[in-house]
Amino acid sequence: MRRAVCPGSFDPVTLGHLDILGRASTIYDEVVVAVLINKKKSSLYTVEERMDLLREVTASYGNIKVDSFYGLLVDYCRTEEIPVIVKGLRAISDFDYELQMAQMNHGLAGVETMFMTTNPLYSFLSSSLVKEIATYGGDVSGLVPPLVHASLVERMAANRAANA
Ligand code: PNS
Repeated sequence: MRRAVCPGSFDPVTLGHLDILGRASTIYDEVVVAVLINKKKSSLYTVEERMDLLREVTASYGNIKVDSFYGLLVDYCRTEEIPVIVKGLRAISDFDYELQMAQMNHGLAGVETMFMTTNPLYSFLSSSLVKEIATYGGDVSGLVPPLVHASLVERMAANRAANA
């Protein structure tokens, strides 16, 4: 069985992520979406909330599993016996850091990284931009799955009410 992991923060999952996950799911028998538990980074959604959204938006693929991990990605790969990491590359600006991580992960544990070019429709898209736009009431409906959009609208309204 060929398995791959797609790691990330997914705060929240965007259409760009979903594009990569869906395409990876046609290449591998099982794709594990692994949400990083990052205690240093502040996030809009908790890890559990991000995992729930991911589960809902990937359910129709049938071979995508959602999990979380803490610590080194290569340790997660070793424990779960997953030999391949799949990453989306949006632009050349992603490349330097992604190359460095891929080489480090290969050097550390022999884990391979496969890069998939992002659909040009989403080459400008990031979770951070989605959050910033949504915070100031901008329209992100074309950037995230409908479920995530509904959740963002609700979360932003709740945040505004809490800060009023
Ligand atoms: O969505 P993000 O925040 O860009 O994802 C980054 C992620 C989670 C893929 C990366 O930070 C990661 O792999 N972190 C785990 C810690 C780790 O293994 N660090 C060493 C990398 S060589």
